Amino acid sequence: MSKIKATNITWHEGHVGRDEREKLLKQKGVLIWFTGLSASGKSTIAYTLEHALVQRGHLCYVLDGDNIRHGLNKNLGFSAEDRAENIRRIGEVGKLFVDAGLITMTSFISPYRADRDTARATLGAGNFFEVFCDTPIAICEQRDPKGLYKKARAGELKGFTGIDDPYEAPLKPELVIDNSKCTPQEAAVMLVELLEKVGKIPALAE
Ligand code: ADX
Repeated sequence: MSKIKATNITWHEGHVGRDEREKLLKQKGVLIWFTGLSASGKSTIAYTLEHALVQRGHLCYVLDGDNIRHGLNKNLGFSAEDRAENIRRIGEVGKLFVDAGLITMTSFISPYRADRDTARATLGAGNFFEVFCDTPIAICEQRDPKGLYKKARAGELKGFTGIDDPYEAPLKPELVIDNSKCTPQEAAVMLVELLEKVGKIPALAE
């Protein structure tokens, strides 16, 4: 996938920069990268955070694994190579969204450390916040909203993350959330506070 095919291409700068877009939006672009097992709460927290931020007047977007696999990434499966390409594309799309000034949330299992680290490097320092949804697998399996853990245990679904495919936990995530111990709303509050602290959004006036 990394083989360069296009040659004779030149980068074209526009007249409006990221700074100007951010000024317009009164926020700074950022990518909040949720990682964790299926049913660990990634998407629920991402959408709760999006809702909270939009209510405060911020422009956000959630890139969700299951949704993106219906469109942009529908040609990809779950081999290690396909998962790497899935994450590479999302890192690149995320980079564009952040350049557009959007507060962007990605919700992908993203099981491989190296793939997440590549996304982190693509985005660059200050643009990428890794949030590890560290919900115990027993709880994810109990929730099993799509019945996939059951299928994997029965041997009807091969290569399911956490059952017979690996998940490499982050070593230095910006935030760890065990959402069996807090509500999605509480997790969203922690993230809003983090965004304020790092200056991505202004604090609310007293
Ligand atoms: S990733 O590993 O490439 O990051 P992604 O987040 O896009 O995965 O998609 C995960 C979703 O696909 C799961 O929430 C689940 O609904 C579905 N899925 C189907 N097959 C698998 C599998 N073998 N492993 C993990 N998730 C799977």
